[in-house]
Amino acid sequence: MNILKSLAIVSLSASLLIAANPNKNAELKSVVKMGQKGSKMLLKTLGGNMKKKMKEGGPLKALDFCSNEAYNLTEKVNKRLPRGVRVKRISLKFRNPANAPEADEAKILKALESLQKNNVILPNHIVEKVDNKVYKFYKPLVIKKKVCLKCHGDIKDTDIKRVIADRYPIDKAKHYKIGDLRGAVVVTIDKSVK
Ligand code: HEC
Repeated sequence: MNILKSLAIVSLSASLLIAANPNKNAELKSVVKMGQKGSKMLLKTLGGNMKKKMKEGGPLKALDFCSNEAYNLTEKVNKRLPRGVRVKRISLKFRNPANAPEADEAKILKALESLQKNNVILPNHIVEKVDNKVYKFYKPLVIKKKVCLKCHGDIKDTDIKRVIADRYPIDKAKHYKIGDLRGAVVVTIDKSVK
């Protein structure tokens, strides 16, 4: 498998680089720490609010909330993160075109999909070194909960279907099943920003 091979080579050369350069090791550690912090903050904020709305008014209210507030809540989290750090969600099959991956991000998502197809259990995170000072921390998002399928599975509820079709005319984020890779949280960390 080509992708498996290239991933193995990438990780091998990355670990060689780290072994040879202790400063890089410290930098990578701080990247992972910041990535974990940023992704947790976003998932907690979005997930917590979604749960609340679901309890208050069911999936339709949660849907309305998600489509109105996901962007604002993400920006709020970004304001709380240090300068040079930004978090977002991406997917190859996105609902909101604003969550379409950039070229490098699409490659990573495709590699993760390919690994999954080869029965690899995905890691909690991976790190891409974009250039000398910029890193991207990816947390793969796998659909684990049935509740996700209310809005991302084979949707049965006609109200939900209608609202999604109205607000997202080019929606691709349907027909998922439990265990599918839904996308990733990406935390971009620019070490040149002090
Ligand atoms: C009540 C409906 C609803 C439920 C339940 C729901 N989502 Fe979504 N999801 C949405 C909407 C609406 C968007 C688009 C938000 C926007 O406009 O930014 C979205 C966007 C996303 C995105 C961003 C990428 C994209 O497609 O635009 C990811 C990732 C995601 N959802 C994952 C999940 C996961 C994982 C679960 C289960 C824990 C879940 N969703 C449950 C409605 C829902």
